[in-house]
Amino acid sequence: MKDKIISISNQFNEDCKNAEDLTKLEQLRLLYMGKKGKIAELMQGFREVPAELKKEVGVLVNNLKNNIEEKLAELKESLNNKALEKEIASSKAFDITLPVDIGVGSLHPRSIIQKQVIDTFASMGFIIEDGNEIETEYNNFISVNVPDTHPARDMQDTFWLDNGEVLKTQTSAAQNRILKTYGPKCKVLFPGRCFRNEAIDACHENTFFQIEGVVVDENVSVANLIYFMKKMLNGVFKKDINVRLRPGYFPFTEPSFELDASCPFCGGKGCSTCGNSGWIELCPCGMIHPNVLNMAGVDSSRYNGFAFGLGFDRLVMIKSGLDDIRHLNAGEIKLLKQFKTKIN
Ligand code: DAH
Repeated sequence: MKDKIISISNQFNEDCKNAEDLTKLEQLRLLYMGKKGKIAELMQGFREVPAELKKEVGVLVNNLKNNIEEKLAELKESLNNKALEKEIASSKAFDITLPVDIGVGSLHPRSIIQKQVIDTFASMGFIIEDGNEIETEYNNFISVNVPDTHPARDMQDTFWLDNGEVLKTQTSAAQNRILKTYGPKCKVLFPGRCFRNEAIDACHENTFFQIEGVVVDENVSVANLIYFMKKMLNGVFKKDINVRLRPGYFPFTEPSFELDASCPFCGGKGCSTCGNSGWIELCPCGMIHPNVLNMAGVDSSRYNGFAFGLGFDRLVMIKSGLDDIRHLNAGEIKLLKQFKTKIN
């Protein structure tokens, strides 16, 4: 019996050499593994093996069976691969000159709307600037009139770095540098990413975008502020939008306001977007505090100005119809693709 097993094994290895295609391989499989094949035959002979040898011979038969099965599977895979290669070589499946639709990417709604805001302000003569994401405590707080002891520091949960610097909590952090660079007569817009140590929910993110603007000159007035904000909303919503100011409080502006825009969707009649009030709270702003001007080397007895800090993600949500701020950072391609044609 042992001799028979060895001879079947040798014969199988020989026969494998002739299995040049899938048909021959199938014939080989039937010859060895078929119902009436050599392995089945061996199994039948197994009955006659003396009891004391059954264990040893059983292992040998099993090994042979496993080896044959493995080898047949290997041969099948390699023949399949060869067949595929042949097919590819003979067909034009990979004609690299064919135009292929790999899907065109789309801009993030933030990028689309930020461009609209930037374009509008640029057309009104604003310089577009960038801010740092890591800021000194001085720029983020002290230079905008928020000293160490000021209660306003509690309004913002700050990510402090080991070296005493901060992840910018507000785009206002760039005001001092910008006024030093471009003041005392300037119109500058500076969008940027801000960070706050917030619990995240549908309305709060720890990473969000603001767009800040400053205008400094002689005799700047609240009327100028209203004019520029209306122009901006006009550029973004492509229609006339009314604004109204409510009193607010910020350390860096005096007086400070909350600017509301008339709802661009219902024209002020009231709808679900504006909570039926007809107004959307959009942008804190105010007349720059004299301390902020003086700290930037701008003589506040001669110059004044306004500043605003647009909660940009909110504007993006309103305009794109997203009801959860977390979508903006989630990088969900399927969701983002919808905006390719939607935001205009
Ligand atoms: N920096 C403020 C914040 O993040 C927003 C702000 C309010 C900016 C009033 C301004 C301003 O420039 O005048 O809460």
